[in-house]
Amino acid sequence: MLCLAGTSLCFAQAKIYQNPNAPVEERVKDALSRMTVHEKVLLLHGQSKFTSAGVPRLGIKELHHSDGPHGCRAEVEWNSWNTANWNNDSCVAFPSLTCLAATWNRDMSAIYGKAVAEEFAFRDKNIMLGPGVNINRMPLNGRNFEYMGEDPLLAGEMVVPYIQNAQKQGIACCLKHFFVNNQEWHRERVNVNASERAIREIYLPAFRKGVVEGGAWSVMGSYNKWLNIHCCENDSLLNGILKGEWGFDGAVVSDWGGVHSTMGAALGGMDIEMGTGAGDGVSSRGIKTYTYNTNFLGDNFEKLINEGKIPMSVLDDKASRVLRTIFRTAMNPNKVIGELCSEEHYDVCLQIAEEGIVLMKNDRNLLPIDVSRYSHILVVGENATRSLTEGGGSSELKTKLDISPLDGLRAAFGDRIDYAQGYYSGRAMYAMQERTDSTRQAQLKAEALEKAKSADLIIFIGGMNKNGGQDCEATDRNEYQLSFGQPELIAALAKIQKNIVVVTFGGNPFDTSCMKSVPAFLHCWYLGSISGTAIANIVSGKVNPSGKLPITFAANKNDYPCFHYGERGFPGVNDQLYYDEGIFVGYRYFNTNNVKPAFAFGHGLSYTTFAYGKPTVSASTSGKKTVTVSIPVRNTGKVTGKEVVQLYIGKNGSKVERPEKELKDFAKVSLNPGEEKTVSFTIDDEDLQYWDETTHSWQVESGKYTVYINSSEVVNKGKVVFVR
Ligand code: GLC
Repeated sequence: MLCLAGTSLCFAQAKIYQNPNAPVEERVKDALSRMTVHEKVLLLHGQSKFTSAGVPRLGIKELHHSDGPHGCRAEVEWNSWNTANWNNDSCVAFPSLTCLAATWNRDMSAIYGKAVAEEFAFRDKNIMLGPGVNINRMPLNGRNFEYMGEDPLLAGEMVVPYIQNAQKQGIACCLKHFFVNNQEWHRERVNVNASERAIREIYLPAFRKGVVEGGAWSVMGSYNKWLNIHCCENDSLLNGILKGEWGFDGAVVSDWGGVHSTMGAALGGMDIEMGTGAGDGVSSRGIKTYTYNTNFLGDNFEKLINEGKIPMSVLDDKASRVLRTIFRTAMNPNKVIGELCSEEHYDVCLQIAEEGIVLMKNDRNLLPIDVSRYSHILVVGENATRSLTEGGGSSELKTKLDISPLDGLRAAFGDRIDYAQGYYSGRAMYAMQERTDSTRQAQLKAEALEKAKSADLIIFIGGMNKNGGQDCEATDRNEYQLSFGQPELIAALAKIQKNIVVVTFGGNPFDTSCMKSVPAFLHCWYLGSISGTAIANIVSGKVNPSGKLPITFAANKNDYPCFHYGERGFPGVNDQLYYDEGIFVGYRYFNTNNVKPAFAFGHGLSYTTFAYGKPTVSASTSGKKTVTVSIPVRNTGKVTGKEVVQLYIGKNGSKVERPEKELKDFAKVSLNPGEEKTVSFTIDDEDLQYWDETTHSWQVESGKYTVYINSSEVVNKGKVVFVR
């Protein structure tokens, strides 16, 4: 404080924290120096269901958190999970993150992150609760639709542009759910036992890439335990790995209700405790009536600080991380105003949807449809009309536009289109899917089969939905088959009309044996607000499909290794879950054990064809230990198409057990008919390393490596060997 003698005018020390042009670190330091202990503590927990405090006295803004990764969730009441019933919070539902992963296109991730963040900005939200990168270890997990597949390299590469471009808008991503939250059953208490190699090579890498390369400003601790300690209070995980090894400087946010003790949260690396209690009511988890100061990082924590039982440095570190997040978002001078439901956002939604749809099968080149050949096209299936943007848990969205597949197909093909529901699933939102009424199912099936007799083409639109027990948070599926009698209905329809296209939705693989009699099969994940147009554009040939599977579709549920070890592998015994398959998750298991999948990781067809030339390998001339592998790719068909060139590496004669090959890079290239481009990849030691459990460190073996250039995990287009 500078007071000039004889004047009453005191020039208060410049409030650096209020200077939008001051460096964030200076703003943090200055603000911290002005705050009381109590004000610092208030930053560290919710003050409502979805906000955490700022410092009103100093004009430091609060943080508004909101779900979810696919769009900005509708407003909920201040102190409860109930919807606030606003009429100005409808949004764009963007495709699911599994659909984004299925594009294998980093540019799609970049435009996704920017667009979705602009919707959050317009809704005045600061922290977007997503994206999620939990690995698809167990194919019945009800939340896999929110994640980016079974491979850590693909998930990591595809999450980075999303985070970078979302945060450029002044919106913090909250990378979740950190970590090994790979099932929903007993998610709040199951303890995961996994080898060091599995942890380091499979379950951490996508999070590490999201933090270190993506620069995530916040990370959400998951509900489950690791090392028998809740991840939201886990010193080894949050302080050791995340903040220590990776240098994470943002704020760790708990999953809602994920904190269970003051000392655990205080010393275990938690920065913002959310969802513990619901203010003046009983929390949704039945926790007794709370007011927010009784959060674990509330009064009790403050008391321990004031008694010196917890060092002030612990409080100051947490408060600094929260302040840093506030200055990066709510008080960021470059935070955009954003936009909601703009044409640009719908275009982004459509582009990603079209690029994420996977053409699984196309016998007789039934697709694209030559509409001049058909006069009566019958669309069958509940998912042709049912909204798939509502429900599913916290990623649920209230949309202004939700073009159904039937709407899209009618817009494309006019009154040729007829419709029969074929089956029904009920509206089991947040409740487990009840058994459906067999009489009603039989009636719907009979109606569809009757109509099928006069159709010259059938388009079946089914798969999963967002009901409890399907693709829905807090539940896992209890069957690998499609539900509601769909397999039998598909087979019966195919018997009546051999010109049948099956289109499925869903975030997980399923038993596709029912597709044997189906010539054309598309899988669509969840496509968001413009589903119908995207499907019509693919089916009509206006857009050439280019999606590739980010997961393996096994022929049988029990082909997945997580089911090979009894209940200890899933759902766990006495809440102890064992990842006995180790690093052999997804295709890593299938290729090493010669188990043939129904549809392989990286699989996806096109309406054109591609020819690969001979791959070449050259050592770096710059002295760095890298090699470059190049391969020409040519479009040998009649229409423009995009191909995903996939690079896998295998170690010949490794001294440790390793999968036959692992994805190490990929590139999506667009080619006109007859056009050829050469795709090049640079390989360095990071692509070759494995985690050594004796030295607890990354190691690289010398010797021979085989590089596989593939169009899917099982279709090799060329190999080269090099010696490191
Ligand atoms: C939920 C979810 C999490 C979500 C949070 C807030 O329980 O696990 O993904 O962001 O609570 O809704």
